[in-house]
Amino acid sequence: MNHLIAPSLLAADFANLQRDIEMVNRSQADWFHLDIMDGVFVPNISFGMPVVKAISRHAKKPLDVHLMIVDPDRYLETFHSLGAAILTVHYEACTHLHRTIQKIKSMGMKAGVVLNPHTPVHVLEDTLEEVDMVLIMSVNPGFGAQSFIEHSYAKIRRLKEMIRAKNAGVLIEVDGGVDLTNAAKLVAAGVDVLVAGNTVFASENPTETILRLKNLY
Ligand code: DX5
Ligand code: ZN
Repeated sequence: MNHLIAPSLLAADFANLQRDIEMVNRSQADWFHLDIMDGVFVPNISFGMPVVKAISRHAKKPLDVHLMIVDPDRYLETFHSLGAAILTVHYEACTHLHRTIQKIKSMGMKAGVVLNPHTPVHVLEDTLEEVDMVLIMSVNPGFGAQSFIEHSYAKIRRLKEMIRAKNAGVLIEVDGGVDLTNAAKLVAAGVDVLVAGNTVFASENPTETILRLKNLY
């Protein structure tokens, strides 16, 4: 399949959020990536439910919600009611990951699992066939505009191999430090969904940057 682009609104201008959402609506982007941080699982706080609600009123593309919070089970229903299409939880934050995945899917959302840079892909050996997407963090979560961790390529290739071996229909998403210099290499390594925050919103022409990420030029 052609790879998808998910601009991260963490890098948008929060004082002009509607304008930035409408730019994404009109662009070649496929999803909105929303980063929810609780100041506990990660050393930063982003935005919460009222903002997600406001975003979902204007967004015309699926909401890809990345939960960087402890005990995400407490909020699965909330994010479903706020309009999440894909709900992604951290492997490191889930004691009963299998149960959490089943719960997300039972509500009709796509279920994603995200791995921090230090977490090897083999921990998903027994859950891979249950999930719709695996998100590989290519920076330590918590902040935008960090540098891409080169070791992520090896993880992506290994994960792709695991997915192939199981013949599973699992998407690979990558998040953190994605830019115009590494996007094509990431797609070649097996990535299906590119998240990009700073690269899109700090660029002179975000619509054009999305087009370039989508068409890899
Ligand atoms: C980081 C977040 C990312 C972040 C990416 O914890 O999960 O989604 O917005 O930002 P960039 O693309 O600027 O590295
Ligand atoms: Zn994210």
